[in-house]
Amino acid sequence: MIDATEFLMMMLNKARREFEKAKVRGDLKTARMKALECAKYCFEIAKKDYREREYYLKLGEKWRMTADSLEERKHKIVEKAEGGEDFRSYIEGLIAKSKVKWEDIGGLDGVKRLLMETVVIAGLQKPESIKPWKGILLFGPPGTGKTLLASACAGSLNATFFNVKADKVLSKYFGESSKLISSLYRVAREKAPSIVFIDEFDALSLSRSGDVSEASRRMLSTLLAELDGFQDKKSDILVLTLAATNTPWDLDQAVLSRFPRRIYVPLPDKNACVEIVKIHTRGLNISKLKLDEIAEMCVERFYSGRDIANLCQEAVWVMVRDVNPELYKLAELPFEELKKRELKVRPLEMSDFEEAFKKVKSPLTKKDLDRYERWNEEFGG
Ligand SMILES: Nc1ncnc2c1ncn2[C@@H]1O[C@H](COP(=O)(O)OP(=O)(O)O)[C@@H](O)[C@H]1O
Ligand SMILES: [Mg+2]
Repeated sequence: MIDATEFLMMMLNKARREFEKAKVRGDLKTARMKALECAKYCFEIAKKDYREREYYLKLGEKWRMTADSLEERKHKIVEKAEGGEDFRSYIEGLIAKSKVKWEDIGGLDGVKRLLMETVVIAGLQKPESIKPWKGILLFGPPGTGKTLLASACAGSLNATFFNVKADKVLSKYFGESSKLISSLYRVAREKAPSIVFIDEFDALSLSRSGDVSEASRRMLSTLLAELDGFQDKKSDILVLTLAATNTPWDLDQAVLSRFPRRIYVPLPDKNACVEIVKIHTRGLNISKLKLDEIAEMCVERFYSGRDIANLCQEAVWVMVRDVNPELYKLAELPFEELKKRELKVRPLEMSDFEEAFKKVKSPLTKKDLDRYERWNEEFGG
């Protein structure tokens, strides 16, 4: 026959062994439960065994502390796993495979050259004092090809392209945005060469109103620290940050000083318009078009690259409807059947573009453009 104390001791030993096993497995929940059990048995024994009372009280207390510390660790691990994984999958979601090539961009020769040089310098063996740009600011009216330029950089390098919209990150992660940025740069370095493209950059720094949230301030300072810090470390890893904004005047001095290269991406001039029309009518016969005339109209109407892309789409549709008047009727056919047929096309004509011009309007005015020009004169370069 065994007495109560002996029984409790047996149970204590059993619980202790299970605790050890759970700890080895990394099963913190069970380990904690077993530690609490140990504590309970210790206190029971202390009640029954007067000679060893002190000893078992102390031991019980120790087990309880062990259980508490496991509770804390569990919390920390859960937090890390959640935050870490959430960030990670969000960051992976920002990675875009870029197929854009330099020749997909009309005009902007100067900008293209500078970006190409930056990329090339980053790759070449070079004296220590020659450092490639880490951050480049692209500014200009909407739709002028800023995103396109960043994609082409990534495409030509076969680099990992992170497409980050500053305002989206802020609204999704708010207080956590700066942590997200650190994680993002960690992943960018892992997957180098990388291009981190930050769109709507002005969302982080509104000098005009002076009213920036704490969250955007922290996100911005983390970002600037990443830009600074990385400069001195291993220079053979390329992580190039391209920031884009349609409202450069919203950026404050502190930000500007971190982006010594600020590049104006203007509306296309006449030559650029011709190139952009050609890019967006690829595969079609344009020999009947007077490209000069179209380009002049585009310049006069303050068209951006995006407006020209839309113009071409509209014109192409006018042509398609013209030679396929019953097109919509084919909607009754099964998709398999459709795939066997071919869309009729004819060479594009000036009249197609005349129709299209009526539909495309640029939101910009001369005043807007002057503002970009002035900012460029003062801060650009
Ligand atoms: N220079 C350009 N050459 C060819 N297409 C252009 C050009 N600029 C703009 N586009 C067209 O307009 C779209 C929007 O351009 P985007 O690069 O997003 O402008 P931004 O980022 O400056 O607002 C592009 O996807 C492209 O179809
Ligand atoms: Mg864009």
